[in-house]
Amino acid sequence: MKEKIQDQFKKRFGTDGVLYASAGRINLIGEHTDYNGGFVFPGAIDKYIMAEININGTDKVRVYSMDMDAYCEFGLNEEDAPQEQWARYIFGVCRETIKRGGVVKGFDTVFAGNVPLGAGLSSSAALESCFAFALNDMFNGNKIDKFELAKIGQSTEHNYCGVNCGIMDQFASVFGKKDCLMRLDCRSLEHEYFPFHPDGYKLVLLNSKVKHELVDSPYNKRRESCERVAATLGVETLRDASYTMLADIRDKVSDEDYRRARFVIGEKQRVLDVCDALERGDYETVGRCMFETHDGLSRDYEVSCEELDYLNDVARECGVTGSRIMGGGFGGCTINLVKDERYDNFIATAKEKFNAKYGHEPEVINVIISDGAHKVEG
Ligand code: GLA
Repeated sequence: MKEKIQDQFKKRFGTDGVLYASAGRINLIGEHTDYNGGFVFPGAIDKYIMAEININGTDKVRVYSMDMDAYCEFGLNEEDAPQEQWARYIFGVCRETIKRGGVVKGFDTVFAGNVPLGAGLSSSAALESCFAFALNDMFNGNKIDKFELAKIGQSTEHNYCGVNCGIMDQFASVFGKKDCLMRLDCRSLEHEYFPFHPDGYKLVLLNSKVKHELVDSPYNKRRESCERVAATLGVETLRDASYTMLADIRDKVSDEDYRRARFVIGEKQRVLDVCDALERGDYETVGRCMFETHDGLSRDYEVSCEELDYLNDVARECGVTGSRIMGGGFGGCTINLVKDERYDNFIATAKEKFNAKYGHEPEVINVIISDGAHKVEG
């Protein structure tokens, strides 16, 4: 990928630039908890967006996306975002950096990536974090702190892409560290690195290839449900809610909102339980919590789909330790924790059964927990 980007950059702009990359992410547990002030437990993965960038001495940004084979340019003083969705991410990062008092000057860039799109692996956060990191390095002497970089990406989603997301994806992409998962308290932003070496197990994703698109999806509606319940309870976020408190207001909220909140309250505790279990090397508990999360996301939060529920059923039949839908939902991947000796049978069975039912195999994605945003040595 690096050489292809460098070749393309030279062809288009006639010079060389500096290379930056940022990662997609997995999340072991803690779904839809970030915007509720709860805990998440993600890690960056070995799938990246990489960009070559060079200052061009104008007030224009000129961008070529290799994967889309598309070109776009915009002025740094323009208020109107480009029409193309992919370019809005970069436009948004520039605007949000400037809004925070950061410096951005005109630049040329070529970018490409290998984070599967729409699979729930946060390709958009990888793109935002790559550029937020790069602009900080190129124009701001790395003075913008890392949480602010993550927030630049998050605000880009809010203000330019219509997704009212939490902070998890951008946090994971910016803070990711090789071989470590990270527990983030999304209220205080305290975070802790947990070395992750599940000896005897494999972590594998199965991509249903059901299109995952958070823009225009009911994602924002889920967030609104949670906010309504929090308001009824008189708390800032569901982080401060318990099952007992929820039971007390059951007749004051809709059944749907009630179930959404019930999931979130259970999920924030499961993250803590999984972290404790990991420290004991108790993968059975980790796996049980993953299955519970799947059930909650499917029945109470209703962000799963038939294909993902089916992959989850197959995982149970094959004796997989833990399996669940991962990310925002409405398609994408399951994340599976599988004992080494059950791996081959699980993959073969999942491919065969899924293909028989839906006419295509799920894509098997093996991931390595890796570093987040960084400068790539030329
Ligand atoms: C998407 C959002 C995140 C988070 C997850 C669900 O990935 O971008 O902020 O809410 O969904 O856990």
